[in-house]
Amino acid sequence: MVRVTVPMPARPYDVTIGTGVLATAGDHLPELPGAAQAYVVADRGVADRWFETLASGLAARGLPTVLLTVPAGEEAKTLQVHQTLLHQLATQSAHRDDVVVALGGGATGDLAGFLAATYMRGLPFVQVPTTLTAQVDASVGGKTAVNLPEGKNLVGLFYQPVAVLADVAALETLPERDFRSGLAEVAKVALTVDLELLAELESDPSPVLARDEGALERLVARCVRAKAAAVSEDERDTGRRLILNYGHTLAHALERLDAFAGRTHGEAVAVGLVFAARLSERLGRSEPGLAGRTLRLLSSLGLDGGGQLPDVPSITAAFTLDKKYRGGVRFVLLEGAGRPVVVEGVPETTIAEVLEEMGAAA
Ligand SMILES: NC(=O)c1ccc[n+]([C@@H]2O[C@H](COP(=O)([O-])OP(=O)(O)OC[C@H]3O[C@@H](n4cnc5c(N)ncnc54)[C@H](O)[C@@H]3O)[C@@H](O)[C@H]2O)c1
Ligand SMILES: [Zn+2]
Repeated sequence: MVRVTVPMPARPYDVTIGTGVLATAGDHLPELPGAAQAYVVADRGVADRWFETLASGLAARGLPTVLLTVPAGEEAKTLQVHQTLLHQLATQSAHRDDVVVALGGGATGDLAGFLAATYMRGLPFVQVPTTLTAQVDASVGGKTAVNLPEGKNLVGLFYQPVAVLADVAALETLPERDFRSGLAEVAKVALTVDLELLAELESDPSPVLARDEGALERLVARCVRAKAAAVSEDERDTGRRLILNYGHTLAHALERLDAFAGRTHGEAVAVGLVFAARLSERLGRSEPGLAGRTLRLLSSLGLDGGGQLPDVPSITAAFTLDKKYRGGVRFVLLEGAGRPVVVEGVPETTIAEVLEEMGAAA
C-alpha cells in the first residue's frame, strides 16, 4: 500500500492506495470524533459489488453504515438527487459529526461531496473511488458539483475530503470502456507534468492495460502525487491547478453538447487532448509532432481521440461557459510534453480551423 499526503494548507489528508484498502477501510481514516454513522452514497451496481466489503472495513472501526443509493453515472449529478439525499439525511437524524462516504466513480464522488458540504454546513467526507478516473483524478482535490441543463458542474463548491481510500482491486469489475476512459486522465497527467510516466506508458502500457494490481498501484500513486502537488498550491483553480484542465475545455463543451449522453468524460478528454495538442502546434507554441505523439499514446491506451464533432459555432458558444473563461476563453496548451502554459486571446479563427481539421462543420 502507498500513502500520499495531500498537503492542503488548511488541513492535510491522506490518500491510501493499494489492494484490500476497502476491507481495511477503518484503518485508513483519521480520528472522527463523535461519528456515530457513516452514510455511504453509491449506485446499485457498485453497492452490490463493494458495499459489504467497505461496510465490514468500517465496522471494524466501530462505524455502522447506512447505504444511500443513487442513479449510476451522470444522472446522479442533479439538484433533484441532491435534494432527495438531504431529506434522507434529515429523516435519519444525521448529525454534524457523522460521515458521508462516496463509494463509486467521479459522478458519485462529485454528488456525495456536494451533499457532505451542504448538509448542516458540512459533514466529514470520505472518498472511496472505484473507477480509474476517480482514483487518479476526481477523488482528490475537493471539487464537488452537480450539473444544470445549461452546463456541467455549474453548481458546487470546493470541499476537501478527510481521507481518500483507493482500492485498486475494485477496478477489477470496472467495464472496459470506463477503464479506458480513466486512461485519458492518465494520459493528461503524463503529457502535462509526468514525463517519467509518459516514458513508461510509451514503452509498454501492457501491465496497466492488463490491470496488473502492482502496475495500477504505481500508476494511481503517480497521478495522485501530481494532483496533490497542483491542488495544494492552488485549491481554487487560479494558477497551477489550471494545468490539470489540459484537454478539458473542448471535453466539457462536447459533454454538454452531447447532453451528457454521448461520450464518457474520459472519451471527451481524449478528443480534448488531441485538440489542445493541435492548437498548440498551430499557434506555434509547441514543437511539431505533439499531436502525433498524443494520438499514438491514446491509441496505445485504447482511445481514439476522434469521432463526430458538433459544428464549430456550437462548440465555441459552449466554450464561453468554461470555468477558465475570463474575458475570453483561456486554453491550457503545451510547449512540449511536460511544459504546460496557460494562453489567453487565442484567435477564434485559429480555434475554428483546428476544429474543422478535426471534422467539425464550419
Ligand atoms: N471532481 C473532480 O475533480 C473530477 C475530476 C474528473 C472527473 N470528474 C467527474 O467524474 C465523473 C466521471 O467519473 P467516472 O469516469 O468515474 O464515471 P462515473 O462516476 O459516471 O462511473 C461510470 C460507471 O462506472 C460504474 N462503476 C464505478 N465503479 C465501478 C466498479 N468498480 N465496478 C463496476 N462498475 C463501476 C458506475 O456504476 C457508472 O455506471 C464526471 O461527472 C466528471 O465530471 C470530477
Ligand atoms: Zn477530467
